[in-house]
Amino acid sequence: MIELKTTDYVKPWISGLEPYVPGQTRVGFIKLASNENNYGPSPKVVKEVRKWAGKIYMYPYRDSEVNEAVAKYARVSAENIVPGNGSDEIIDIIIKTFRGPVGALIPSFIEYSAFARIMGVEFIGSSLKDDFGFDADKFIRETGDANLLFLCSPNNPTGGVIPREDVVKVLGTGKIVVVDEAYYEFYGKSVAELVGEYDNLIVTRTMAKAFGLAGLRFGYAIASPKIAGAMLKVKPPFNVSLITQAAVIAALKDTTYMRKCVKRIKEDTKLLFNALNRKFTAYPTESNFVFIDTAPKYTSKEFFNRMLEKRFIVRPFGRIPGFPGEYSRVNAGTTEETKKFIKALNGI
Ligand SMILES: Cc1ncc(COP(=O)(O)O)c(C=O)c1O
Repeated sequence: MIELKTTDYVKPWISGLEPYVPGQTRVGFIKLASNENNYGPSPKVVKEVRKWAGKIYMYPYRDSEVNEAVAKYARVSAENIVPGNGSDEIIDIIIKTFRGPVGALIPSFIEYSAFARIMGVEFIGSSLKDDFGFDADKFIRETGDANLLFLCSPNNPTGGVIPREDVVKVLGTGKIVVVDEAYYEFYGKSVAELVGEYDNLIVTRTMAKAFGLAGLRFGYAIASPKIAGAMLKVKPPFNVSLITQAAVIAALKDTTYMRKCVKRIKEDTKLLFNALNRKFTAYPTESNFVFIDTAPKYTSKEFFNRMLEKRFIVRPFGRIPGFPGEYSRVNAGTTEETKKFIKALNGI
């Protein structure tokens, strides 16, 4: 047997990395840890997925139909769209395409720094304010050496948003600015139409959340044709599967279903916020999840275990560098699940 000395082959900056740890999924437990839409996809999407099952011997070929449907939904042109295998892949494509260093907020979605590190690109973090609010001047100053900036609005995991005028201020740096709008449908406001004005703006979105398609993996970028054109050179061929294409087209034909889910989920997020805020410190959210500080009552691990005993899975973050608390995130499930969670929460 040949014994491989991995350090001779693995890129040196990869050796020190840790694999991504997703929110846990356990059979028989209610998962409120990955900001999914627990109502699931539209029944019309399920029907379409079944219909296309026998066609999977073919490579995906409905790219232009998908791009047209997404563009219509996002109120832009098809030439502004880059489709991805989840918005995770869009982030990966962006970091492969544009020069680093990469700058982003702390705390924010972990994949900006993770993909930068995988590519051996320097990452520069800039902390949110003590109350997790956004300070544009501080962000611009602290990411001065970065060439590629990631904003996230509503921000995962805090739930807060970045006002449009602050996005415009960051765009004024002339750097490539990504605004991750994974939770756009819950917030209802977007900066996507600014792509007509700013060549340096990329808006990313996903159909994993409000549309309930997390398992199929579909996300997209909205950008000027110049930026989209550069990203398309990096995008792997056939990155969106034939089944996913069918599901995306069907889901975008039935936005009424999605909007119904969003309405309910937003109402339930308010109930969840109030319940969590009575016990701990909860931060205002424009999304389908609530960010909380459980200190001094519990560490986030203790809170996770207490809820696990009641058969709920939440997302523990523990300590976040530069912030004093013990943080966790909980998303609203279906109304029934959310109500059950609140009852269980009141019992710990
Ligand atoms: C802010 C943000 N961006 C991107 C993603 C990735 O989404 P997708 O499932 O489309 O890869 C997530 C998922 O949690 C997210 O919270």
